Amino acid sequence: MKTYIVTGATGGIGEATTLQLAKEGHTVLALGRNAEKGTVLEQEGQGNIHFFQVDLAKPPEIQQFFDDTATDFPTIDGIFNNAGTFGKPVAPERVTDAQQEVFQVNYHAPEQIIQLAVKRLSKGASIVNNSAIVGHVKFPAMLLPYASSKSALITLTKTYAARFHGKYRFNAICPGPVDTALSHSLYGGKDKFDLAMKHHLRGNAAQPAEIAEVVCFLLSDKASYINGQSLVVDGGYTLT
Ligand SMILES: NC(=O)c1ccc[n+]([C@@H]2O[C@H](COP(=O)([O-])OP(=O)(O)OC[C@H]3O[C@@H](n4cnc5c(N)ncnc54)[C@H](OP(=O)(O)O)[C@@H]3O)[C@@H](O)[C@H]2O)c1
Repeated sequence: MKTYIVTGATGGIGEATTLQLAKEGHTVLALGRNAEKGTVLEQEGQGNIHFFQVDLAKPPEIQQFFDDTATDFPTIDGIFNNAGTFGKPVAPERVTDAQQEVFQVNYHAPEQIIQLAVKRLSKGASIVNNSAIVGHVKFPAMLLPYASSKSALITLTKTYAARFHGKYRFNAICPGPVDTALSHSLYGGKDKFDLAMKHHLRGNAAQPAEIAEVVCFLLSDKASYINGQSLVVDGGYTLT
């Protein structure tokens, strides 16, 4: 059984992945801000899930998490850098320093987590970074900081994969629309999101568990020959 770090474990894709890993018998260090949800997760995990309240917008809290877990969890077998934020939608020509938090959470936090984890990674450890279908479709202009940070995450993924020559694997996933709170917020509520998804190739968005399946596979040794990839997981969405 392995020990994994999952960020954004308190909702959507991260929650589904955390629960699946725990069900498979792995230990999950589950990060999020919502402590109430963290308590529920720990109960559902029946001893396999350990929640840590960490705001990824605050680098010292990430450092603190690694300090706090060094003795009890000295070895890390994989990381799902999943947490992400759209930030406040703004026209590209109006982007200011106020949008820096988007890059902090979506790019710099995964970068810091990888840097701090490297000395604790087991041989063959797998890192999966949650990007998006940036580069494959036109992204809403009001989400430029989000799209740029997710593109940068793919570059980080490939750079790390090349650097470590397979000692550790680094892959990114690029999900199409998924039925989560984050997507609902973009479309103005779940009803509007579901309606918009009628135009999806298959008529509806992914459920978080469908993405979790792919992440758990990439984290596992079954995916030992997949390295440095950015894998589109979109039910054919980008075909249309
Ligand atoms: N949904 C989609 O259609 C879609 C498509 C492509 C990619 N993605 C990516 O998938 C990832 C997960 O999103 P989701 O759709 O599952 O959304 P979600 O259900 O809203 O979950 C987002 C998670 O990110 C965490 N988070 C956000 N800001 C944080 C911060 N500052 N510090 C710590 N945790 C933070 C949230 O934690 P708290 O609630 O505890 O604050 C929550 O657990 C994101 O990176 C997103 O970009 C989603």
